[in-house]
Amino acid sequence: TSALPDGYSMRPLQRNDYSNTFLDVLRVLTQVGEVTREEFELRFEQMKASSGGYHILVILDGKGKIVGTGALIVERKFIHHLGLVGHIEDIAVAKDQQGKKLGLRIIQALDYVAENVGCYKTILDCSEANEGFYVKCGFKRAGLEMAHYY
Ligand code: ACO
Repeated sequence: TSALPDGYSMRPLQRNDYSNTFLDVLRVLTQVGEVTREEFELRFEQMKASSGGYHILVILDGKGKIVGTGALIVERKFIHHLGLVGHIEDIAVAKDQQGKKLGLRIIQALDYVAENVGCYKTILDCSEANEGFYVKCGFKRAGLEMAHYY
């Protein structure tokens, strides 16, 4: 049972997704602000140029509308014999689409990418309220996040 609902599909984010509902889906996660098409495309190209560092996936509903997203950032290290660490970031499912396992499918897909590019682990930060979701996705509590906001 690793399938999406009928008619739904998953693919990498594309440059022309500015006109789809990608940024609106991210707004269920946090504030996004006003982002112009030019700003979006510049950021997209910067990420694409980062030699395999960014893997952003989107889920489309039966009408081709973006209803979920998630990112894997692959960090290159010197330790662990030039190891790679996956970071799962910015997971969001549209409010009216939550509870259909879309979040789970995004995490499974990002996990698959991480393992296949050779990450030795994948980590993420989340709120206590989302701990149960990530446990269901196969993650376990490890460490403590600290932050310095500017
Ligand atoms: N607490 C406990 N269990 C949960 C939670 C939760 N907050 N959310 C979902 N689950 C469970 C579901 O019940 C389901 O369990 P089941 O298999 O027993 O039925 C399982 O986890 C999978 O749930 P999905 O249906 O895949 O969850 P959904 O598609 O609704 O996505 C998500 C979950 C991404 C957290 C969504 O609710 C969302 O977008 N929330 C707002 C944004 C957000 O908080 N994103 C995560 C930030 S952390 C980060 O990005 C690294």
